[in-house]
Amino acid sequence: MAKLRYLGHSAFYIEGTGLKALIDPFLTGNPFAAAKPSDFSELNAIFVTHGHGDHLGDTIEIAKKTGACVFSCAETASWLAQKGIKTVGMHIGGRARFPFGRVKLTPAWHGDYITDGGAVRYGGVACGFVIEVDGKKIYHAGDTGLTMEMKLLEDEKIDTACLPIGGHYTMDIEDAVRAVGFVRPVRAVPMHYDTFPAIKADPDEFASAVKEARLYGTEVVVMGYGDTLEI
Ligand code: NI
Ligand code: MN
Repeated sequence: MAKLRYLGHSAFYIEGTGLKALIDPFLTGNPFAAAKPSDFSELNAIFVTHGHGDHLGDTIEIAKKTGACVFSCAETASWLAQKGIKTVGMHIGGRARFPFGRVKLTPAWHGDYITDGGAVRYGGVACGFVIEVDGKKIYHAGDTGLTMEMKLLEDEKIDTACLPIGGHYTMDIEDAVRAVGFVRPVRAVPMHYDTFPAIKADPDEFASAVKEARLYGTEVVVMGYGDTLEI
């Protein structure tokens, strides 16, 4: 059985057989972060959807301390490799097998750059991930607008889909409900809302809208900061 813990914004901790991982570990500077970088001493992977500060977050510090391997698109991975970090650079639509399970990069309609000191670096393209562990598939959409590509995920039989609902930079509630209809996951977890004034959204409104739309029985699980979900 795999466990998913919500750390605030788009950050999650996943634990399963052979996997202790973070996704988009934006902890320092996140007013609602449910963990600090120093809380993680044993990790083997960090999944980074794109280089924006609220996703790359504390990746470098945590990867250096734990020796965790960072999964991202090839461009962000090569920038991280130059910083002395272990990386697996993949690309959109690419899937690969690892000791804990398979990982696939999914398209995300979003920008990507990395702020490196005073300079802005090319980050490649933003992505999402389908991460398989203990026979379950977790889809973390990253930052994205609604896209028809999500319809392709229906055949993946996603167990848990983490979807942005905050609007402004990503899907809002209305589009996230449509995304649920495209992906048809067993459960959907809202993310990327309330952290900043621009992305204020009510996750319960998302939950009732999904229920009302009768989307194939997908259950919305609104996770509080620090909550753990067994999947
Ligand atoms: Ni972003
Ligand atoms: Mn973001």
